[in-house]
Amino acid sequence: MKSLVRENDKLPWSSAPGRLHIVTFGCQMNEYDSQRMAQMLMASYCLTPYMDQADLIIVNTCSIREKAEHKLYSLLGRLKRFKCSNPVLKIGVAGCVAQQLGAKLFQRAPQVDFVVGPQGIYRLPMLMERLQGGNDRLHDTGLQGDFQIPYIDALLPRKGDVRAFVTIMQGCDNYCTYCIVPLVRGREISRPVEDILREIGSLVEQGVKDVTLLGQNVNSYGKNLSKCVDFPSLLLEIDRAFPGIRLRFTTSHPKDISDRLIGCFGSLSTLCEHLHLPVQSGSDRILKRMKRRYSRAQYLEKVKKLRNVCPDITITTDLIVGFPGETEEDFRQTMSLLEEVRFDQAFAFKYSERPGTAAVRFQEKVPEEVKSRRLTRLLKLQNQIGLEQYGRLQGSVCKVLIESCSGPKVTGRTRGNHVVNMEGREGLVGRLVNVYIERACHHSLIGTIIH
Ligand code: 5AD
Ligand code: SF4
Repeated sequence: MKSLVRENDKLPWSSAPGRLHIVTFGCQMNEYDSQRMAQMLMASYCLTPYMDQADLIIVNTCSIREKAEHKLYSLLGRLKRFKCSNPVLKIGVAGCVAQQLGAKLFQRAPQVDFVVGPQGIYRLPMLMERLQGGNDRLHDTGLQGDFQIPYIDALLPRKGDVRAFVTIMQGCDNYCTYCIVPLVRGREISRPVEDILREIGSLVEQGVKDVTLLGQNVNSYGKNLSKCVDFPSLLLEIDRAFPGIRLRFTTSHPKDISDRLIGCFGSLSTLCEHLHLPVQSGSDRILKRMKRRYSRAQYLEKVKKLRNVCPDITITTDLIVGFPGETEEDFRQTMSLLEEVRFDQAFAFKYSERPGTAAVRFQEKVPEEVKSRRLTRLLKLQNQIGLEQYGRLQGSVCKVLIESCSGPKVTGRTRGNHVVNMEGREGLVGRLVNVYIERACHHSLIGTIIH
């Protein structure tokens, strides 16, 4: 759970009469959408880091696992109190749970005034007008296949950010059998190249130096656009237009990692040496049941090709344990895949049944305690591998882009996406420095700036 702005953030000046607080659950796509909502409402509301001072609170939700939904209901319970002390307060729910439940949310949480899905956020000002006009309990959860993501000038709510995200496509056509995303985010829709370039340009002008392109499956970018463009050509255009930035993207589907895309890691100087490549399972039987459309061997082949082109590439992944039908032998295959690939980091989750997905009908559910035990074993192995992977950088000098400062410490990032902590001062934020890596921790490095 994240607030869009924090206490000491430098906010752009705004004379708007209302106070808006946005809480975000879930992925970076949601964080991006939260920024868009703030921008859509900027004429009437300025952001506040204090929930109890807001007259509009929007909770941007995630429904990827059941746990994320529980967190929403517990927060909505707490928000009820604020309505007693502030009668003008309006509460909105946005994002994936909003899309999934629509008007049903009003029954479950009567304190909610409006509900907007991922496309509805672009119609927020109209919805707010209707709400101010006395209409109650409004919901906008339409999902049009021909929807076009409107261009909104990128104005960062937090000035001075070095890193920013740019959505290049939303939705997903893959329908993996465990996943609710295609049901709540709709079909794949790509943004026009010109909008993406314009948005990056505006971010770069504001001082952003590290840009991550976002989408549920960025590799299939361009499918619905009239202009013949695919993901590698988009990367090439960005590389040409902004040669000074660090460029990243997430998330990728292994089946769509083409040789051309792999080649980009060797040929585009802006493209950072990091790829998040969710594998989900190491067992062919489970991959098939998940409808992932690649085999273990095909995944390993892509990793090999990537490392041939770019030997130091950081590879991270997502894994699910306890998918229906996962036997001890299937799980062992996942463990052996971890040892074979040696991921720098892995995000592992217990399978969570999501309403409306194909896997709901699958038999042989794995008991919760078995899932928990497998997750613990997997994390133990991955922690050890991750530490060894990070440890390989010990004693080397890395180019680190400083992102933030807190007291006498600064935090930055390598091109390979390793977070580095070191001593430094505020003036270093946004600067590229050489850092001697002293020590590796779990998921971060400790270093000293060298001059
Ligand atoms: N249960 C558990 N994990 C899931 N993910 C997606 N759907 C589910 C689910 N039903 C995980 C996948 C995906 C990541 C974003 O969340 O690993 O890559
Ligand atoms: Fe979900 Fe699969 Fe689409 Fe990823 S590719 S968002 S896991 S359906």
